[in-house]
Amino acid sequence: MSALRHFVDLWPLEPETLRAILDDAHRRKAARVGWPRGRADPDAPAAGRTLAMIFEKNSTRTRFSFDAAMRQLGGASIISTGADMQIGRGETIEDTARVLSRMVDAVMLRTNGHDTVERFAAVADVPVINGLTGASHPCQILADLMALEERCGPVAGKTIAWVGDGNNVCASYLHAAGKFGFRLNIASPADYSPALIDLARAVEAGGQISLTEDPQEAVRGADCVVADTWVSMGDVDYDERVSALTPYQVDDDLMDLAGPRAAFLHCLPAHRGEEVTDEVLDGPRSLVWDAAENRIHAQKSILAWCFGAI
Ligand code: CP
Ligand code: NVA
Repeated sequence: MSALRHFVDLWPLEPETLRAILDDAHRRKAARVGWPRGRADPDAPAAGRTLAMIFEKNSTRTRFSFDAAMRQLGGASIISTGADMQIGRGETIEDTARVLSRMVDAVMLRTNGHDTVERFAAVADVPVINGLTGASHPCQILADLMALEERCGPVAGKTIAWVGDGNNVCASYLHAAGKFGFRLNIASPADYSPALIDLARAVEAGGQISLTEDPQEAVRGADCVVADTWVSMGDVDYDERVSALTPYQVDDDLMDLAGPRAAFLHCLPAHRGEEVTDEVLDGPRSLVWDAAENRIHAQKSILAWCFGAI
């Protein structure tokens, strides 16, 4: 690993590093219960530091949680869309990285192509964080696992069932499985199964992974069921996706196969009535609102790690 602490994907990071980030997030969250959300943590590990954020795609949670996270760490942030910047008119991503490296202390990017974040990180002199690309969404998984641990205890040894499109969020679950020691059952239609490279990375990291086209088989006995939209930002084959993925809707009957204590996670935004029913999303097994809040806590610890405070 380079001296710079980039958080571009989970798969290149050591399990101990990821565990330390998640433990720090649990500690920081517990230490500020009842506090106003704008008050800084006493150690303020980002004091005097600025995070730049560049969005090529829409965002609610990532945008607000990173901004709130920097405030709680004692730092500041600057947010822009790619379209408003000169990259929107053809300035190279490398030149953008060189310039922002002289102005801020870290950069978070949400981009269409994963290679955009990788190219930025290859040139940047400051830590770079992936705030979602078409290929992965590593920040989301730490927030999800944090919510699951709050409900069920340590995630090591648990079984998580992914139901639906083998997309960017699924890829980061694959990258996380071996690192955190959970079993991952994936149910997806053959045309929308995860990329082979992500399956290979999961196996290389010691992940226990099973693949099936049968959602009932995947969720039986699972501690947690995870769903995501059938049509991600940038996908164009809406009708084909909805047709192939309709049998993968998570409803109470499917959750019942997992068991009464099983949790439900979804990165949001949800498409109610498509990949998940209202009864599951708003029901007692849903951890989605906790996970959404945890985007702040998990990303504070990602940032603290990037800044060398973990
Ligand atoms: N889950 C997530 O990343 O949400 P946003 O797209 O709103 O940032
Ligand atoms: N898979 C979804 C996640 C959104 C947070 C997408 O990429 O659009």
